[in-house]
Amino acid sequence: MDNFSSLQLYITGVTATGKTSVAKKLCDLLNLSYLEINSVVLEKGLFFGYDINRDSVIIDEELLTRELNAIITRNNRLCLAGSIIPLKNVFDLIIVLHCGINTLRERLSERNYSKEKIEENIEAEIMNIIYYDSIEFYCEKRVFEVYNDENSIEETCEKIISIIGQHNPSIL
Ligand SMILES: Nc1ncnc2c1ncn2[C@@H]1O[C@H](COP(=O)(O)OP(=O)(O)OP(=O)(O)O)[C@@H](O)[C@H]1O
Ligand SMILES: [Mg+2]
Repeated sequence: MDNFSSLQLYITGVTATGKTSVAKKLCDLLNLSYLEINSVVLEKGLFFGYDINRDSVIIDEELLTRELNAIITRNNRLCLAGSIIPLKNVFDLIIVLHCGINTLRERLSERNYSKEKIEENIEAEIMNIIYYDSIEFYCEKRVFEVYNDENSIEETCEKIISIIGQHNPSIL
């Protein structure tokens, strides 16, 4: 596989749809560098504080955008994973992962989340919020929805690789 062509992917989706699992596997398969947006935020201290009610950090989006731009400039084969959407006009493709509600509820329940946090995520998946945010923010033609539910992680990666190939075969 050509390791020199530029490929910038963004894997997003509701919590526990499988962003990290799929992004890591995809990086192995396509020789991409893996980057978790939450890790960048925490490691570099790019947050204002912690929102106890929402059980999440309050991200400094301006600093995060600056940091991600610098990382992307240094590395042209990247797969980022995260549930927020900080950058415009950067990614070749944005993959929104989905998961059936029953499976998602099981995955969320395995974590020590509050009932409110579980329901908030289930509602976000039902309303397809991440997809609608993505097409509002990015070029719609670059946003693809992929189910990561009954497929294995490898099968989900194959679907994504097929989308990359259709979008721009020269990238692969
Ligand atoms: N295709 C799959 N089949 C079975 N289990 C899966 C699949 N994909 C992910 N999982 C499992 O679902 C759980 C959530 O996956 P993962 O942590 O990758 O999600 P995430 O979207 O990165 O979550 P977060 O938003 O918290 O970062 C994990 O236990 C993972 O092993
Ligand atoms: Mg993750």
